[in-house]
Amino acid sequence: MYRLVYMSTPKRCLRSEELSSILAAATRNNHRNEITGILIQDRKRFLQYLEGSENKVEETFARIASDSRHHAIFRLKSGLIDRRQFPGWSMASKTIEQCASLKNAVSELVKCCDHDVVAELLNFAEARDRAA
Ligand SMILES: Cc1cc2nc3c(=O)[nH]c(=O)nc-3n(C[C@H](O)[C@H](O)[C@H](O)COP(=O)(O)O)c2cc1C
Repeated sequence: MYRLVYMSTPKRCLRSEELSSILAAATRNNHRNEITGILIQDRKRFLQYLEGSENKVEETFARIASDSRHHAIFRLKSGLIDRRQFPGWSMASKTIEQCASLKNAVSELVKCCDHDVVAELLNFAEARDRAA
């Protein structure tokens, strides 16, 4: 199993319809490509975790990275992990307030994940909270 984590910045504050359309495309394509994961967003950042076969994840990330709705796309981590962490989610998503803690949002979504994946995602979220 291969996973990729990145962070990016929305080009502008996205309306809820725009976010719904991103999630609809993500759910549809990810289901077909056997990709699962999570997407958390506040008004200033996206944090997304994608997992699946290496080819499909990289292909999907290349498409996402060329999407004009966000920029400053920064790959935080990619590589192999032991098993799928979010088997039930084509793309679980959570929208939080800009002032809310990303770490808290992540902790709610990673309850069933392996310890090392939890630690990794919480570290990214914590760093982002500190930088905010
Ligand atoms: C923050 C963000 C996350 C996205 N996540 C996914 C994703 O997980 N899977 C996906 O296929 N597309 C995702 N997209 C949408 C893609 O950039 C692209 O618009 C979409 O894959 C095109 O699919 P379509 O040709 O079926 O419309 C995301 C876009 C943004 C801005």
